Amino acid sequence: MSTLEMFGRKTLAATLLAVTLGAVAAPAQSPPQSPSTASPHLGRPISEADIKNWDIAVLPNGVGLPAGQGTPQEGATIFAEKCSACHGEAARGGVAPFYPALVGGPPLTDGIETRKTIANYYAYPTTIFDYIRRAMPYPAPRSLSDHEVYALTAYILSLNKLIGENDTMDAQSLPKVKMPNRDNFIMPYPDRI
Ligand code: HEC
Repeated sequence: MSTLEMFGRKTLAATLLAVTLGAVAAPAQSPPQSPSTASPHLGRPISEADIKNWDIAVLPNGVGLPAGQGTPQEGATIFAEKCSACHGEAARGGVAPFYPALVGGPPLTDGIETRKTIANYYAYPTTIFDYIRRAMPYPAPRSLSDHEVYALTAYILSLNKLIGENDTMDAQSLPKVKMPNRDNFIMPYPDRI
């Protein structure tokens, strides 16, 4: 057994002991204090402005999409400058295996191992917007303007022939784009919704 394994086991045993002791000791403690007195007084109250900065989720129905718009042509220029170094020319991939192509994709008929892409997998077009805005470009997330994100989303949808080359994407038009795999998701527990 390596030192690391021994250390790991010892730590686990210590943790289990601590948890067990905690569980045994719990009933003997006084009743729980109110949250205010129990607080460790760390951190500071969060302001509305701070929350707004983090509250960037875009839902499938378009709720959360910001003002602004963009076209595939505008997106092509931005893509060449900020994205193609990793995602390849015209988003075709091929730069490195871990930089995904953003166009095309095999049909999802070969089981779980099939490479999932925007065109063959994403259920909602708004996911593209949300993902780019929060995570791309990889080295500088949150650096794009809403206009740039709309334009890049339009470009990728257009490359995948899911919208026309001259279609403008904005908060109204984007949620209406139908993704090819949209109807192939199933709800495992519909009665729990
Ligand atoms: C430094 C390399 C790099 C750059 C530059 C970059 N990306 Fe990415 N991108 C990645 C990697 C790596 C992933 C996969 C991340 C993962 O799976 O966690 C990814 C994933 C994505 C995805 C999700 C693909 C999918 O199949 O789900 C989109 C969309 C995307 N990038 C768009 C962009 C756009 C638009 C730009 C330009 C603004 C950009 N990326 C710039 C490396 C990069």
